[in-house]
Amino acid sequence: MTAATEARREVICGDGVELLRRGHLPDDQAVVTSLPDASELPGLGFEGWRDWFVETSALACAAVADEAVSVFYQTDVKRDGRWVDKAHLVLTGADRAGAHLLWHKVVCRAPPGLATFGRPAYAHLLCLSRRLTLPPGRSTPDVLPRLGEMTWARAMGREACEAVARFLVADTRCRTVVDPFCGVGTMLAVANAHGLDAVGVERSAKRAERARRLVLGPAPR
Ligand SMILES: C[S@@+](CC[C@H](N)C(=O)[O-])C[C@H]1O[C@@H](n2cnc3c(N)ncnc32)[C@H](O)[C@@H]1O
Repeated sequence: MTAATEARREVICGDGVELLRRGHLPDDQAVVTSLPDASELPGLGFEGWRDWFVETSALACAAVADEAVSVFYQTDVKRDGRWVDKAHLVLTGADRAGAHLLWHKVVCRAPPGLATFGRPAYAHLLCLSRRLTLPPGRSTPDVLPRLGEMTWARAMGREACEAVARFLVADTRCRTVVDPFCGVGTMLAVANAHGLDAVGVERSAKRAERARRLVLGPAPR
């Protein structure tokens, strides 16, 4: 039997913030997620979303055990001619939770040197922990040259998910990925393919159902 068939996956249709508020995740669970953009939570208004985003980042950093990690995949947006830097918002939340940055990777969404309009040519991949530190010898590339397959428009890039799963296996004791905003389950499927268990929460019943069944082909080389 392969690792992919042994690893477990549970997807709950519900509120991911509630799961984070409960906190106290076991030592072997990591949060890996992509928080919704302002356009996905129109009821909050822009300022309300900004506060929600910082607060939810703080909850995600506080919910994991001291030596565990929280990982965020976020793409900035432009609003009225100004950049909204989501790495800054995640790090503001992390500061509130007493978490430090373990690594910050830039994922290329378009080839370097290309001008993009609207969304930027990169996404942030940020890893935080309250206690874990990494020796310098454990560095991995800071720039991921490709986004890889995307299961839908708001998905985490496949190459980013693969990098996170490899990191969790090699450098942490985390063996379960918790994605409280799991969408169609890209991170859950990649985690399972690496032998990691996965728990997802998604408020859309349709996407939660897709997340229960998503299987990805072999990882690109
Ligand atoms: C950026 S997308 C995540 C995409 C996901 N990483 C993937 O690869 O498919 C954010 C998701 O969060 C969901 N969402 C928004 N608010 C939520 C909440 N309070 N609880 C759970 N899911 C929520 C949205 O429906 C959306 O699918």
